[in-house]
Amino acid sequence: MHASDAPLAPDHGPLAPLAQVDPADMRRQYRAAGLLEAELAADPIQQFTRWFVDAQHAALDEPNAMIVSTVDGSGRPSMRTVLLKGYDERGFVFYTNYDSRKGRDLADNPHIALLFPWHPIARQVIVTGTATRVGRDETAAYFRSRPHGSQLGAWASEQSRPVASREELERRYADLATRYPEGEGVPVPPFWGGFRVAPESVEFWQGRENRLHDRLRFDADPTAPTGWRVERLCP
Ligand SMILES: Cc1cc2nc3c(=O)[nH]c(=O)nc-3n(C[C@H](O)[C@H](O)[C@H](O)COP(=O)(O)O)c2cc1C
Repeated sequence: MHASDAPLAPDHGPLAPLAQVDPADMRRQYRAAGLLEAELAADPIQQFTRWFVDAQHAALDEPNAMIVSTVDGSGRPSMRTVLLKGYDERGFVFYTNYDSRKGRDLADNPHIALLFPWHPIARQVIVTGTATRVGRDETAAYFRSRPHGSQLGAWASEQSRPVASREELERRYADLATRYPEGEGVPVPPFWGGFRVAPESVEFWQGRENRLHDRLRFDADPTAPTGWRVERLCP
């Protein structure tokens, strides 16, 4: 069938050519310059900083967006995108609803994985570790830094629960906006706050030519002088 004879997809115009491309034929040659042990920072947080700065200089869209994977009490995994809101030697911080699916998963099982998918610069970083709630003062400080609308949104949304309709959600928001007009302090929802992920391993992946990618992984090791052991993994 000729492309111009392609059936129309409802509301989206003709099928995009991409729909006819076999994903198995999509290949990309990665860059030659790699990640060598000799140039690696002494600890994963410093190394993360270097790559996070590179990601910002490369003008990536939302370089702080990460895939967060959790596992529930019966061993079933789930994932979603969340924004990184801070990090230091204690770990990586994000904010969410504690009663959400991920919040409930973490209450049962604190093991977690984070993945930064920096595809345009052929890099990814994968963190594994355990998540603990950040202190209420830290959560309150971050909550107050958010726009008024986002503060109300946190109250309006019973994250991950079914809601009857879009109108219902907007009605809840409008009620809150009447109760807490702009300029008036919005209390921090007790069901909302941060998680800090203390890293147990951090893998830095750099795409290289011929699929001989670089993978250097830091594993927490209290017996190592830096507290971290580094291993190269086969790609
Ligand atoms: C780019 C992007 C950023 C997001 N950032 C957050 C975030 O910082 N916190 C959050 O709770 N949800 C965030 N979300 C929504 C989550 O992906 C998810 O829908 C929500 O947290 C509910 O997940 P759960 O039902 O698995 O708990 C973001 C989604 C996208 C696409």
